[in-house]
Amino acid sequence: MKSLMIQGAKILATGSAIPSSSFSNHQMSEIVQTSDEWIFTRTGIKERRLLKGVDQSIIDLAVLASKKALNKISMDPSQIDLIILATSSPHDLFGSASKVQSEIGAINAVAFDLTAACSGFVLSLVTASQFLQTGAYKNILVVGADVLSKWVDWSDRSTCILFGDAAGAAILQSCSSNDNSILSFQLNTNGNYSKHLSIAYEQNIAPHPQLDLYQGSFKYISMNGKEVYKFAVFQVPLSILKCLNSLNMSVEEVDWLVLHQANDRILTAIAEKLSINRNKVISNLGKYGNTSAASIPLALDEAIQDKKISHNDIVVIAGFGAGLTWGTIIVRW
Ligand code: UT7
Repeated sequence: MKSLMIQGAKILATGSAIPSSSFSNHQMSEIVQTSDEWIFTRTGIKERRLLKGVDQSIIDLAVLASKKALNKISMDPSQIDLIILATSSPHDLFGSASKVQSEIGAINAVAFDLTAACSGFVLSLVTASQFLQTGAYKNILVVGADVLSKWVDWSDRSTCILFGDAAGAAILQSCSSNDNSILSFQLNTNGNYSKHLSIAYEQNIAPHPQLDLYQGSFKYISMNGKEVYKFAVFQVPLSILKCLNSLNMSVEEVDWLVLHQANDRILTAIAEKLSINRNKVISNLGKYGNTSAASIPLALDEAIQDKKISHNDIVVIAGFGAGLTWGTIIVRW
């Protein structure tokens, strides 16, 4: 994908936040008919974090992750020009980014939500890089945060075992085009498959008596796991290869593959299709499950803390999920 690049963009720092309460597969087997063995062998998940407590919301996690990223580079929040909050579980249907803006004190930032489920962080990174590379903004905070535990049907064992709550943040800054580290991206959507993964809006059966107007509410997550699995394993390697090809880069040059953490078997299948050694695939599913828009920044932040990803590494980041939407971004770290 070609973009008008006047200057470069780079990632300065990352941060992440998880709820304190963990919920193991064993505990899960006490509320739905499942087992640690089934969940672990089918998904690689051992436990997940759940945001409990009546006063807690996605905003608390997003704010904490953002503050951690800011602290790492001692950046004053007033230097942030734009905040993009990737989430599908906002605390307010009008958006939660403005609450994050006020709580971290980013008084000069414009803030908006971006809804693209598990691809939200990748789409937000690309959006941020465009604002930076065209010279519109200097510093951008991108946050991926989701609390899908609030939208899961806790009696549906085919979905409730998968998801966990978390937030991850990245601070991007403009730089000279020679130092540009957001090298390329490749994005896709196929709305024909949207039925396979949704939190659908359900209208009331009876309309308002005078207005012929239906109102309703959102339902729980519904997912055709097999279709989403097949789609991810087929489409994500193609997207990654297209993105690498646009840079004349080979898979051998990839140091790290940071995929949306949906299922360990999906990570393995994608790595196998690309002939990328499994050791290069970042995975933290065991501890957190699928944290939707937070999964990639959470995995990135941990991989940096663990000193896996280091300066100059080629990091291939790919997200996929509801929409169905999927895409890749290649970063020289
Ligand atoms: O971030 C969004 C992207 N989402 C994804 O990437 C999800 C992709 N899909 C998946 O990860 C997998 O499809 C699942 C993990 C959701 C399911 O694994 P699967 O191997 O596709 O299992 P399945 O749905 O084909 O179910 C196999 C069997 C069924 O029983 P029968 O019909 O064979 O008797 C299910 O009823 O396993 C049963 N089953 C369970 N058993 C124990 C389904 N869920 C469970 C469960 N515990 N939690």
